[in-house]
Amino acid sequence: TRIFIPQDVAALAVGAEKVAKAIAAQAGDGITIVRTGSRGLFWLEPLVEVETPAGRIAYGPVTPADVPGLFAAGFLTGATHPLCLGRTEDIPWLARQNRLTFARCGIIDPLSVEDYRAHGGFKGIARALELGPSNTIEEVVRSGLRGRGGAGFPTGVKWRTVAASPADRRYIVCNADEGDSGTFADRMMLEGDPLALIEGMVIAGYGVGANKGYVYSRSEYPHANHIFARALYVARKAGLLGPSVLGTDFGFDIELRVGAGAYVCGEETALLESLEGKRGLVRAKPPLPAIKGLFGRPTVVNNLLSLATVPTILANGAQAYADYGMGRSRGTMPIQIAGNVKFGGLFEDAFGITLGEIVNEVGGGTLTGRPVKAVQCGGPLGAYFPPSLFDTQYDYEAFTARGGLIGHGGIVVFDDSVDLASQARFAMEFCAIESCGKCTPCRIGSTRGAEVIDRIRAGIDVEANIALVEDLCQTMKFGSLCALGGFTPYPVLSALHHFPEDFRRGHLPVA
Ligand code: NAI
Ligand code: SF4
Repeated sequence: TRIFIPQDVAALAVGAEKVAKAIAAQAGDGITIVRTGSRGLFWLEPLVEVETPAGRIAYGPVTPADVPGLFAAGFLTGATHPLCLGRTEDIPWLARQNRLTFARCGIIDPLSVEDYRAHGGFKGIARALELGPSNTIEEVVRSGLRGRGGAGFPTGVKWRTVAASPADRRYIVCNADEGDSGTFADRMMLEGDPLALIEGMVIAGYGVGANKGYVYSRSEYPHANHIFARALYVARKAGLLGPSVLGTDFGFDIELRVGAGAYVCGEETALLESLEGKRGLVRAKPPLPAIKGLFGRPTVVNNLLSLATVPTILANGAQAYADYGMGRSRGTMPIQIAGNVKFGGLFEDAFGITLGEIVNEVGGGTLTGRPVKAVQCGGPLGAYFPPSLFDTQYDYEAFTARGGLIGHGGIVVFDDSVDLASQARFAMEFCAIESCGKCTPCRIGSTRGAEVIDRIRAGIDVEANIALVEDLCQTMKFGSLCALGGFTPYPVLSALHHFPEDFRRGHLPVA
């Protein structure tokens, strides 16, 4: 019998290690404990699964104190128990999803090549090798996959540009500097299915003619980095990486680099500077990284989720992926539901689901039970949506039309105790702290913005100062070199426009 216990950080944080030890201490011969990634149903962690002839039976959330009772009830045969959730795949929250990118996460042992292969691994690279480089790129173009970092630029078109740029060397860079509030999909993939990312990068390298890739991760993810480093070793042993990928004359290898905590290093050009060993300062574009990127060479810089989705696209064909979604947003998005919400976690679904469905049906409303007041979508630089906009469909264009962005797929829910004027100030403060300092609207504007919001909150010349913030936001939006300064106006203006009353209380002392 196999027992599956996650070693994802979200599960470890609520005691998965102690649960694993307690189960191991009681498990007799013939029991194998497999450590997996997380299924992404965080309120049920630690979620323990047992393999039975009827499928995997889930129990959760399990504490070490529950373990003797589980054994006594006969959970090794899938017996019923107050913590029993039935077949894992039938849990409605999971059954409702369309898991393409995260198909294997939480199911396989992330460091087992056999498990990976048994669940569809290696099919993508095999198909790419059959198609040849340029047809591999065209397959990604046809899938409609767009950049999952947030800008939504078509991934295959970016690859075309890199492939067409003459050079002695090209690079694949994976942006895993997941700094957005409420996001954890990159981390879950690194911990739960790292070979999918490796396979995606190998396919990208094969497509564009690159032999070297870098994964730029973050120091805040020590556990993910440890697992990914081991996955690189496993992939080399399996011939997925190395001078001869799967016996071909194409060679590819990957290096893991870890950033030191600057949010701006998630911006692609600052990331490249950092990879080159320099301070994370944003570069002016053009030239695009696709033409002149890492070490001056044509470089694919893709978000981790974009690259980790590539194997499934190649394995099942572009059309199978493009069949999901709406409008120009094809496929699925791993949505990360966080904040004050009952059922938080990773929910992968086709584009087109509405924000209201995500927050109220999937998320189950607030954990506190109070009414939802606002939802911030797309990280600290994303807009706050009020419930009156909950009919907005999850789609790049639909969000833009409503003054927002889906960013990297993070959603943070707030109840009615939140003060949006204070959140607007936080956005300015965040920008001031994280600004790389290269351009004035961001470097100085953010500090002035926080000061003006303080005056508004203190009730000083409120209307004149609100007009000043609006004006400053226009300057930051159009005068900043990168998205950090350019997108800070989104949370500020959405707070101002959707929650005007929060700016007119006038009772707070100036900070
Ligand atoms: P961008 O729109 O300038 O570029 C998007 C990507 O497409 C870049 O990789 C760019 O190099 C590439 N590109 C553009 N034109 C191209 C062409 N003709 N050929 C080949 N490649 C081309 O957006 P940027 O500045 O990279 O990112 C802004 C976005 O980042 C925002 O839309 C926002 O949603 C998102 N964002 C994400 C955050 C996160 O933590 N994931 C945080 C803040 C913002
Ligand atoms: Fe640097 Fe801010 Fe300018 Fe971006 S907008 S380049 S972070 S100063």
